[in-house]
Formats: sequence, structure tokens, C-alpha cells
Amino acid sequence: MIRFCALFVFVPFVFGCGEPDGEALYDAKCAVCHGSDGAGQTTTPSIQFELSQLSLNEVVQTILEGSESGDMPPIVLNDSEAEAVALWAMENLADPNADASE
Ligand code: HEC
Repeated sequence: MIRFCALFVFVPFVFGCGEPDGEALYDAKCAVCHGSDGAGQTTTPSIQFELSQLSLNEVVQTILEGSESGDMPPIVLNDSEAEAVALWAMENLADPNADASE
């Protein structure tokens, strides 16, 4: 049943599965580039340090509009999904001691 609800996380209001699931959204929308732990992979940088420095609004804005340099494309999510994934990432992946240059 949890799996079933996760499938419908993108239409929570239709299927009544509640608030957007930040972890499931991260896995679906971010992990492909940033890795499941936020440490980055191949050409994508780690965001562990950035997540510990940016405000919630800045992370949400990065998600919805892409990064300032344009290297990260805007991610297609609605506002509450973007906030849920930003909060989850900030709570679970942020590391102020991570090497920002990695
Ligand atoms: C297509 C690959 C890709 C995807 C998908 C992606 N990112 Fe990024 N992201 C990047 C790249 C590349 C950068 C570095 C951009 C730069 O330095 O300008 C970045 C940078 C960031 C930053 C740091 C921005 C800053 O100001 O330093 C955050 C935070 C971030 N991503 C969060 C996310 C979250 C959360 C998701 C999922 C909703 C996500 N990203 C999905 C490629 C991606």
C-alpha cells in the first residue's frame, strides 16, 4: 500500500495519499543527478554543503527555476512538492563539513 501511494505522489489530491513525500520525490527527481546521498556523481556536483548554507526559499527557487548558471535545469514540480523535497533534502542530506568543491 505504501508503494501504491508513492506511485501517486504526483497527484496526491486526487488519490488522497496526503502530503507530498519529499524522500520519494528526491529519489525520482534529484537522485539521478545528485546521487541518493546528495554527494553528486560524474559531472554533477555535491549539494551537501550548499544545502547547509541555502535558505529553504533559495533551495525551492533552485528547484523550480534551475541554478543561476543554468547548469541545473528547472525541475517540474508544483510548489508544495518543491517545498517537500527541499525540506527533506535539507534535513537529511545537508552537511556543513562536506567539501564544496567536490
Ligand atoms: C539534470 C541534473 C540535475 C537534476 C535532475 C537536479 N539537479 Fe540540482 N544541480 C545540478 C547541477 C549541474 C548543479 C550545479 C549548478 C551550478 O553550480 O550552477 C545543481 C545544483 C543544485 C543545488 C545548489 C544550488 C546553488 O545555488 O549552489 C541545489 C540545492 C540542488 N541542485 C538541488 C536539487 C534538487 C533538490 C533537485 C531535485 C528536485 C535537483 N537539484 C535536481 C543538476 C541537477
